Amino acid sequence: LSQSSRQGIEELKNELVLVAKLQHKNLVRLLGVCLEEQEKLLAYEYMPNKSLDTILFDPDRSSQLDWGTRFRIVNGIARGLQYLHEDSQLKIIHRDLKASNVLLDSEFNPKISDFGLARLFGSDQSHDVTNRVVGTYGYMAPEYAMRGNYSIKSDVFSFGVLILEIVTGKRNSVAYDSEQAVDLLSLVWEHWTMGTIVEIMDSSMTSHSPGDQMLKCMHIGLLCVQEDPADRPMMSVVTVMLSSSTVSLQAPSRPAFCIQKSGKDPTSYV
Ligand SMILES: *[C@@H]1O[C@H](CO)[C@@H](O)[C@H](O)[C@H]1NC(C)=O
Repeated sequence: LSQSSRQGIEELKNELVLVAKLQHKNLVRLLGVCLEEQEKLLAYEYMPNKSLDTILFDPDRSSQLDWGTRFRIVNGIARGLQYLHEDSQLKIIHRDLKASNVLLDSEFNPKISDFGLARLFGSDQSHDVTNRVVGTYGYMAPEYAMRGNYSIKSDVFSFGVLILEIVTGKRNSVAYDSEQAVDLLSLVWEHWTMGTIVEIMDSSMTSHSPGDQMLKCMHIGLLCVQEDPADRPMMSVVTVMLSSSTVSLQAPSRPAFCIQKSGKDPTSYV
């Protein structure tokens, strides 16, 4: 076996062991396993709307996701992640939460998928450090990307990026990626501090969407991508923030990875 195929099998086994123990309406459901000589695959329930990224970032399809649907998706992902982190008997760090790992059923209910990189923590374990950093740039928390330090709070960071992508309809990409790459965290932060946040909400959503709910989602997204993991909320707090209209949110600090255009404070990892 080559290194890469051995890794593939390890990830598949890892996924199998974890997913078999999990059951939540916002996690993809495993139907069966095929472990033949040449074929190694896990069979999941069929998701007619594929993954979130195939609609959200497609200019011809993104209008299928009106704000009500997007808000439901945000809520569902939050609940699924809360279950992994806090509510199931296990404590699981997903480590690769991103738009392409959120599957959508026929009613656009979100299901978190792909547990190949997920890790099981002991109940009193807060973090782990690895020298093999795997995952997806653009969604990785700075302490994980730079020091291999992952925790519940590094998943919360990925969730924060995802929520900002859902409200803006823009994909966060790392700067060197392409001509049209968007450093979403800097963009959102810039508009947040200038008071022009409404300008970067996805214009393909109908104009009569409830602006205050969208604004709250942006605010929560910014709280989740803060540089210090201790400042990022737990997912159970996020779900309360999402459902309550009375809870007041703290002001977010500048996101990790955010480049200061003014050059006054050049703290940046990019
Ligand atoms: C890893 O992060 C946790 C907090 O999330 C921190 O307490 C710990 O000191 C960090 N460890 C290393 C080696 O960076």
